[in-house]
This record gives sequence, structure tokens and C-alpha cells, in this order.
Amino acid sequence: MANHDTEKKLITFRVKRFDPDGGERKRYTQEYKIEVMKGQSVLDCLNEIRWKQDGSLTFRRSCKSGICGSCAMTINGVNRLACETQVLALGSSTITVEPLKGFAVIKDLAVDIDPMVEKLLAVKPYLITKTPPPSDAERIQSPAERARLDGLYECILCGACTSSCPSFWADERYLGPHAFLKAYRFIADSRDDAPGEHLDALDDKHGLWRCHTIFNCVEACPKSLNPTKAIEALRRELVKEKIG
Ligand code: F3S
Repeated sequence: MANHDTEKKLITFRVKRFDPDGGERKRYTQEYKIEVMKGQSVLDCLNEIRWKQDGSLTFRRSCKSGICGSCAMTINGVNRLACETQVLALGSSTITVEPLKGFAVIKDLAVDIDPMVEKLLAVKPYLITKTPPPSDAERIQSPAERARLDGLYECILCGACTSSCPSFWADERYLGPHAFLKAYRFIADSRDDAPGEHLDALDDKHGLWRCHTIFNCVEACPKSLNPTKAIEALRRELVKEKIG
């Protein structure tokens, strides 16, 4: 009897490539074929292509565990983490792999995330405290205060949400759902003393008010987080801040 766990299936990977030094052939699609078995992720296959077929294929990866966010890319039209996407579970013998939309491509699947990081820094993505810490303990939170951070702290900053957002496609200065979610992660933190400092960058035509509640960011998040919910909460915080 056939062992379906070790059975291999021939899969064609259609990879969108970009070579900045490629002259007239800068952008093209290249096909690679690999025998894939159950358990192999898209990242495993890209590694195999790079190591055995084409060392010039460029992409980012690091932890291979869905934590670092480096390998976010568009796979069969959906933003996903390559390391968490099982090839055979996609149910297709042809897999298209493209760089995240909306970002400048450096080479092949590697995009320039510097602007995304700059927008993140604009919301001061760290705890701001105005009092010295207790001398003998950490800053304490109750279980209920800690629970408020669930659904916020898990963001790995992969960029899948922002890359899927039409408001971002239309306005490259738009801060983006990754920055909003991170801002709310600190505003919701009972230990943070300066919500206004996180909110400052958001009250802008390229900030919160540019979100049209399209929800693509929710669908795109590989960690099943909800940036739209955070955006609604931030708008309430901003109104509270404005009217005292
Ligand atoms: Fe964009 Fe998400 Fe708002 S997709 S428009 S940030 S709800």
C-alpha cells in the first residue's frame, strides 16, 4: 500500500523575479520544478531551489518558525509566511510566488522594508514611563491588565497586513496597519504613561483617518490578529485625547 506521507508530487513554482542589474530583462517569471512531499513548506522548497537549482534566487528568511516575519511573500495570490505554508495543503500543482505588493523590490522576493520600519518608529513602539521603576520588583500588571495585550503583542512585523492594504497602495506615506497595531499594543499597556506620545503620529491624513475599514489586513495576518479592531480603538483614544 502506498505511504501517502512520503509520496512525492511534482510541483511547479512560478517565481516572480527582479534583477536590478538585468538590463532589458529586469522583470520576468521563472519556473522551477521540485518533487515535494507532505510536511514541506514553501520556504523548504525555495531553499531547495536556491541550493540545488539556482543560487541566484534571492529571498529573506531567518527563524523558519513563524516568529521573525522575514519570509512574508505572496503565495498563490495571498500574503503568507513561506515557512508556515505547507505546499501540498495549497492543493495546487502550480504555486506562484511573488514579492509583497506595495514595497519596492530589491531583488526577486526581497523587498525594501526600511519605510515600514520608519513608520513603525513614528508611533514610538516601546513602553514610555514617567515614574521610576519600583526598586525591588518589575512594574506589576494584574492578570486582567496583561490580558488586554492578547491579540496585540503577537505581531511579528512581517508586513503582510500593510502590503495587502489598498490605502497603502494609494498612499506610500500611509502609516499602515502594522504601525497602528503596534501603537495600540503600547497604549493598551497599563504600564505605559504616555498614550498621547504614541498617538501623535496617527492624527494625520496619512495616519488613522486614511484607513477605510477595508479589512484586507485582517485576512492577511498570518498570526490571525485584527488590526482593524485596533484601529477602531485608536480612533476612540484619539477622540478622547482631543476632547480631554
Ligand atoms: Fe487598510 Fe486594514 Fe484599514 S486593509 S484600509 S488598514 S482596515
